This record gives sequence, C-alpha cells and structure tokens, in this order.
Amino acid sequence: MLRGTILRRSVAILLLAAFCLCSACKAEKKEEKNSIRIGVCLYRSDDTFINNVRAELEKRVKEYELETGARVTLDFQDAKGNQSTQNSQVERLISLGCDALIVNLVDRMDASGVIDRVSTAEIPTVFFNRQPVEEDMNRWDRLYYVGSDAKESAVLEGGMIADHFRNTPEDVDPNGDGVISYVLLEGESSHQDSLIRTEWSIQTLKDAGVPVERLAGGIANWERTQASALMEQWLNQYPEQIEVVISNNDDMALGAVDALERADIDSVFVVGIDGTTPALDAIARGRLAGTVQIDLKQYARVLFAIAMSEVTGEEIPDTIELTEGKYYMCPQRVVEREAVRTE
Ligand code: GAL
Repeated sequence: MLRGTILRRSVAILLLAAFCLCSACKAEKKEEKNSIRIGVCLYRSDDTFINNVRAELEKRVKEYELETGARVTLDFQDAKGNQSTQNSQVERLISLGCDALIVNLVDRMDASGVIDRVSTAEIPTVFFNRQPVEEDMNRWDRLYYVGSDAKESAVLEGGMIADHFRNTPEDVDPNGDGVISYVLLEGESSHQDSLIRTEWSIQTLKDAGVPVERLAGGIANWERTQASALMEQWLNQYPEQIEVVISNNDDMALGAVDALERADIDSVFVVGIDGTTPALDAIARGRLAGTVQIDLKQYARVLFAIAMSEVTGEEIPDTIELTEGKYYMCPQRVVEREAVRTE
C-alpha cells in the first residue's frame, strides 16, 4: 500500500518535472522567435536623407512590435564614409548574432567585403540607396536592393521646371528672354544617382522643347555647406543671370537657398530631389520652389518587410513587387509651392 503511494507520487513528480521542462523549452523557443535583431549600416549618419530613412525605419519597427508583440532590435552603425570601417562593423554585427542586415554601402563599387562576410555567415542582407553593381548582387540569392529610380526622379524634376516654363514662365525665366539660364549642383561622382539625375533633368527640359543655357555646374557631394559655397561663387560670377538652380538632392538645393538668402536674392527658382523634412519645411516657407519626394514610409516598409521575410521565412507581401526577385524602387512624386502641374 505504502509502496504504491510512493510509486504514484514519484510518477507524478516525474510528470510534473517533464511538463515544466517542456514548457521551459517552449518558452525559450518562443522567446527566440519573438526577439529579432537587425543590424543597420549607414554610410554616414549625418546625411539628411539617410537620417530620414532611419527615422521611418524606427517608426515601422515600433508599429510592428505593437501589431505582433514581437521584439525587434535595430542596431545602427555609422561608417563615417569609410568602407573598411563598414566591413568591420558588418563583421561585428554578425558576431553579435544579427538575424539580417540592412546596408547602405559606403562604396557601392566595393561591395565584396560586405558580401563575402554575410554570405559566409548566411545573414540575409538588404542593401539600400547606394546600389551595388549587378555582378555583386548576383553573387548570392539572399541579397536585395531597395532604392528609387534616378531617371524617374530627374524626369519629375525637369518636368516641374518645364511646367512652370509653359504655365508661369516668369517663375523660371524672369528676364523673359525665352531661355532658362541655370546652374546645376551634382552629388558624389561615384553615386549612381548623380550622373543619371544630372543627365535626365536636362534631357527632360530639352525633350519638352524648353530652351536652356547652362551657366555653371559642380559637384557638392550631396552637402548643404559645399553647395552653399559653390552657389556663392556662381552668384559672384553671374550676379544677374542665374534663373534656376537644378540640384541632384534637397540638401544641396537648401545650400543654394542659403547663399541666395545671404545675397538677399529671391527671384531664383530652386528645385531638389528627396523630399526631406527640412526641404518640405523650406517649401512651406516659400524658400524652395519644389522637390521630388521619395515615399519614405514605403521605403522603410519594404526594407523591413524583406528583412523580416528572410528572418521568419514568411512570404514578402504581394503588394511589394520585386524585379528579378531582388530589386525594389520606391514611388516618388512632385511636391511644390503651387500646384501648377496640368497633366
Ligand atoms: C541620394 C540622396 C542624397 C544622399 C545620397 C546618399 O539618393 O538623394 O540626398 O542621401 O543618396 O547616398
């Protein structure tokens, strides 16, 4: 009798122990699945557009955490414009156990240091903004790229000026000679967006039959202060002639606006690309004529969705269509002081 009771108790204790062990295992597994770490490498954290992408990504992650109850840690790294620093940061993020990486390369022509590391460690990676060459993108099937189509940005930017020439020519040709005299601010020479934006903003004006004259152009590396210095120089060279400033991005457009403000000139039509927060403010205040706004909400949504689908094994939502299974280009639109577009 006594022996029977002892036996029953031992079995119960064993079952209880097994149950506890099992629940602990499950909890641990759930914990593992519910806690995701994504490393985010930035070429420079002081770049306004990149900072805007970062802010949207952080917002998207917070939303996701609220929707799902999962925990997602974003580990940001700033390469400060140095590719070998970024390669070491990638190595460190891998050793910290990141499930996926989101990478804004420093040197888009030199992606091999990053690709070698992530492919060896099997960490899926989404590049953005600085596009690796096709050959590099084809080196592994868990590499993706998110960006915006540079030609589309430039066609919209040029189209904005052409619309004004048709509808309110005094905005872009204040001297009324029928020719737009412009200066052009270019981004980094090695960036895919600079050359294409420069070429297509002007080509679009020419295709629209707008007579143009280039007074000057120069590289200001996406930077407001560099652009401001160039613009000051051009204003000294052409004090009366500049009618339009065409900029490859918003920060440089704002640099031109700074120089114009210093010279107390408000007749020059300045346009940029990106749709950054300071640019939208400047448009609202009437300092900047317009920009081409890249849909940053969608940018962040897609970056995160691709990374998460690689981590969880779930399908990328149908609404996100990837070209060649790996490229996504974000939508963009014109934002202007006055809605003059007629088409
Ligand atoms: C461009 C953007 C610039 C700058 C650059 C950095 O696409 O227009 O403002 O952020 O990327 O790579």
